[in-house]
Amino acid sequence: MSCILSALYFIVGLVLLKLVLIWVFFKEDIRAAKKRDPAARNPLEILLLYQGLHALIAHRIAHFFYKAHMFFLARLISQFSRWMTGIEIHPGATIGNRFFIDHGMGVVIGETAIVGDDVLLYQGVTLGGTGLEKGKRHPTIGNNVVVGTGAKILGNITVGDNSYIGANAVVIRDVPANSTVVGVPGRITKQDGKKIDISLDHIHILDPIMQSIEELEKRIEKLEKG
Ligand SMILES: CC(C)(COP(=O)(O)OP(=O)(O)OC[C@H]1O[C@@H](n2cnc3c(N)ncnc32)[C@H](O)[C@@H]1OP(=O)(O)O)[C@@H](O)C(=O)NCCC(=O)NCCS
Repeated sequence: MSCILSALYFIVGLVLLKLVLIWVFFKEDIRAAKKRDPAARNPLEILLLYQGLHALIAHRIAHFFYKAHMFFLARLISQFSRWMTGIEIHPGATIGNRFFIDHGMGVVIGETAIVGDDVLLYQGVTLGGTGLEKGKRHPTIGNNVVVGTGAKILGNITVGDNSYIGANAVVIRDVPANSTVVGVPGRITKQDGKKIDISLDHIHILDPIMQSIEELEKRIEKLEKG
């Protein structure tokens, strides 16, 4: 009986030690989660139940081994984390401070992606490549960027600081700082707090089909007005 009790105390002690260590090393990330998720009640809940935080902790460990050229172990940790959390972060990806993935499921972050500080990603976001090229082939995300649910940011492009990528946008070109981007392909609708009239924004119109649709919409509107 006393043997079982000792084992139990030992396990509880280990779990508490683990929680304390996570708090010590990840308190900034836990606070970021608390700040950015209105549903988060307290740090303990985040620590125990937020898969975005768990994926980040696993990534920090995997990245350490990746840097030490222990690629198999790094990949093993990242695959285990993917299995547990539904979030796949390649161990080679560079992730800044106070990073938070809300909800998480289906997030994919590629090997050469670089993510700045204070970045928030929602579920279903991909920071991916566009082909089979080698070298830097994934995006660089600036500081204080929010990437909405389902958005895809593809290729070796840069998203400037303080930008907001709308839900389900597909971004394939550089995004200047302080921009809001929506749609497929992603187009800037706001910059430095000012709304951009898409019809006058020739630089960021990328898709000829979209252009034709916009033309047609204008003509229909004109006809309807008589
Ligand atoms: C892009 C976003 C940040 C809105 O930014 P905003 O600057 O406030 O934009 P507005 O609401 O003024 O919309 C500007 C235009 O973009 C359109 N738009 C907004 N979000 C869009 C989106 N995700 N996809 C396509 N178009 C979008 C609006 O309809 C509007 O079009 P209009 O000018 O023709 O009327 C927001 O819509 C968004 O996508 N947030 C993501 C939130 C998210 O992922 N939450 C997950 C919670 S689980």
